[in-house]
Amino acid sequence: MISTKDLDYNYIIDIFSKAHTDRKIEKYFDSLNVCLWFQEPSTRTQLSFDRAIKDIGGNVTVFPEFSAMEKGESFTDTIKTIEALGFHILVIRSKKRFLPHEASQKSKYMKIINAGDGINEHPTQALADLYTMVYEFRDIVFGYEFQKLKLDGLKVAIIGDIIRSRVAHSLIPLLDLFDVDIRLLEKEPSLDSHYKFDSLQEVINWKPDVIYMLRDQIERGSYSHQKVFTLTQEHLQGAKIMHPGPINIGKEILTPEIVDHKDSLICQQVKNGVRIKKAILKKVVLDDKSNT
Ligand code: CP
Repeated sequence: MISTKDLDYNYIIDIFSKAHTDRKIEKYFDSLNVCLWFQEPSTRTQLSFDRAIKDIGGNVTVFPEFSAMEKGESFTDTIKTIEALGFHILVIRSKKRFLPHEASQKSKYMKIINAGDGINEHPTQALADLYTMVYEFRDIVFGYEFQKLKLDGLKVAIIGDIIRSRVAHSLIPLLDLFDVDIRLLEKEPSLDSHYKFDSLQEVINWKPDVIYMLRDQIERGSYSHQKVFTLTQEHLQGAKIMHPGPINIGKEILTPEIVDHKDSLICQQVKNGVRIKKAILKKVVLDDKSNT
């Protein structure tokens, strides 16, 4: 799983159905070997993959901090080596855009899961977040029938450093696929064609169902923070609050109380991260035809 742009409606519905029905720990894959190669810091993505793999009975190996690449081994040879060692899946996070795509081109049998590549994409986070929205609004969006899932009544405002957010770049195509009304409040203008707000007050006046906040990607050259992009207590007027994490309290979200507010889905997003990753792993192992 490299990009959400490669996923079609039925593929996503199958993952959500698996996640929805699979609420207990089951040992499906006691011979599944998964390598986690995180070249950038991570808390929730790495730990949720670790939890998900172990919950389905698989074995986790973390790629060594000091690998043979320090001795000049190429990326291609490293991927071939990981595959030859018998790993079925490589979960990779990289600073470099499209490194998971390169890895998928170098491996014959091993499946690649993109855990975030530079500013490009973060498909597993986006799937967990879409699932969180679907589950939260289940009464109005799908009743009990996943096969007829439509979200065309849902209003989602995405706010912050969208131009550098790999989560937004994976989430927006998914929301489009389900006909969600997406509007943006961007720190810096992008070429994205969705409606753009000028202020947080405009966002609130729109009465969105979800306000999805983003962190400034300071490690990728984000400009200094501006207060006009900070969500405060006054902005909590019924919309559900989401954030993919990690949060910089005092910047995009003013106080910890907002994170713990009854309308915040932020903790639920983390919980759903494990559930969705279990479903993705099963999907990838059982019936993925390619490295998509
Ligand atoms: N959302 C996300 O990718 O968080 P981590 O960097 O903690 O994995």
